[in-house]
Amino acid sequence: MANIKFFSGKTTPIEMHRVRIIQKLNLLPIEDRVEAIKRAGNNTFLLKNDDVFLDMLTDSGTNAMSNDQLASMAQADDSYAGSATFYRLEKALQHVFGMEYFLPAHQGRACEHILSKFYIKKPGQVIPMNYHFTTAKVHMTLFGGEVLEIPVKEALEVTSTCPFKGNLDVEALKKVIAERGKDGIAYVRMEAGTNLIGGQPFSLQNLREVSAVCRANGITLVQDVSLLSDNLYFCKQREKQCKNMSIHEIALAFAEASDIMYFSGRKLGSARGGGIITNSKEHYMNLRDFIPLYEGFLTYGGMSVREMEALAVGMYETLDEDVISQGPQFIEFMVDELVKLGVPVVTPAGGLGCHVDARGFLSHLKDNEYPAGSLASALYLISGIRVMERGTLSEQRNPDGTEPIAHMELIRLALPRRVFTMSQIVYAVDRLNWLYQNRHMVGGLQWIEEPPILRFFFGTLEPIGDWQQKLVAKFKADFGDSL
Ligand code: F0G
Repeated sequence: MANIKFFSGKTTPIEMHRVRIIQKLNLLPIEDRVEAIKRAGNNTFLLKNDDVFLDMLTDSGTNAMSNDQLASMAQADDSYAGSATFYRLEKALQHVFGMEYFLPAHQGRACEHILSKFYIKKPGQVIPMNYHFTTAKVHMTLFGGEVLEIPVKEALEVTSTCPFKGNLDVEALKKVIAERGKDGIAYVRMEAGTNLIGGQPFSLQNLREVSAVCRANGITLVQDVSLLSDNLYFCKQREKQCKNMSIHEIALAFAEASDIMYFSGRKLGSARGGGIITNSKEHYMNLRDFIPLYEGFLTYGGMSVREMEALAVGMYETLDEDVISQGPQFIEFMVDELVKLGVPVVTPAGGLGCHVDARGFLSHLKDNEYPAGSLASALYLISGIRVMERGTLSEQRNPDGTEPIAHMELIRLALPRRVFTMSQIVYAVDRLNWLYQNRHMVGGLQWIEEPPILRFFFGTLEPIGDWQQKLVAKFKADFGDSL
């Protein structure tokens, strides 16, 4: 984002774009929000968007598109096979990453399915990684793989000054390889902009070290680049060796260190879709035939060709620092404001969204009363803002039925790129501040219905006791007839 100084001395990020298409928003009265969250079983995934004011659930498929992206959709080629659209997207990816082969897939988790299917050769193989992502973990587990998280120790500290909490512990990786041997490891996975620990980046240096260890041992390195744009920005800002590199040079260096990259085009490229890229003919051939089987023919892979066109343009735009800095800078603003108010948040500010520490916020709740789920429900109630629980509710039960307690108990206020204005961010900060002042009124949640797989998507819960009614009464007392 442009370096613009304010006369007042204040630091406020400025949008380097203007809004030309808008969507009207609706903020229901709090009485209606009580009913809406009840109907949704206190699960923000089950809210209807008409009942939501600011949708900060996710940045997945919700980023604003540029006029060039929208315009490109008109030239989409619908051919089942050999579509010109495919070749335009392939060319964009070859340009951005310098990788030759592209396998299209309908979204990120489809790539995870195909990679797990081929590369997990026998039950019990481990996949060492900086940190898991929900869908990645379930696909690996379904194919008999075991997730092994070996992040640096700062990764799980809520507040830290470590600029690269997404780094992988290289010594721990060497140890795993020594213990398990090459055959005990399916592949190593590095996730850019590590989602579940607060959108935290890894450094180019760390990636290169991980890559060197993998190459010395003949182990495949897979990089999940769904959240790459944030990670590229942070490398440029925070890593000495990247200061004088262009965003494109950093992207090429990321690709050079990896054997395979995959992405959710709902995040990277600000459209909807996904894909796997590699420079190795062997990896390409390993995976190619799964694409028509599970996704769609090789030149669309289950994606809409219109989205593929937008994705191609979005890939080029990812190299523009003005484009990729908007998210991280707005998030940093929000995090800084909340820190000033004493609201516990993950620091340093990461990408994707602002992450509030629900364990710190609701320290009077037990982990199995789901502090993050409760906080997500309470925040909707008092603001109409929809956020995502990223804590114990998002974990899968162990095979013996016991419940793993999440390392971090967070709510995520995702900031889809270029979607929200500064006054909307200020509103979110204000309501979080009010809720923090009234935090002792927020109680826990308990299950009504708990699905066996990815329970956070469809599970329903109810408040323990009548804390929601009391919270509504306090809101009315403080805000009167304000929405
Ligand atoms: N990898 C990462 C790091 C992700 O954040 C996601 C999705 C995926 C893979 C799966 O991609 O949705 O296209 O199938 N994250 C979304 C989120 C769902 O809300 O954070 P997908």
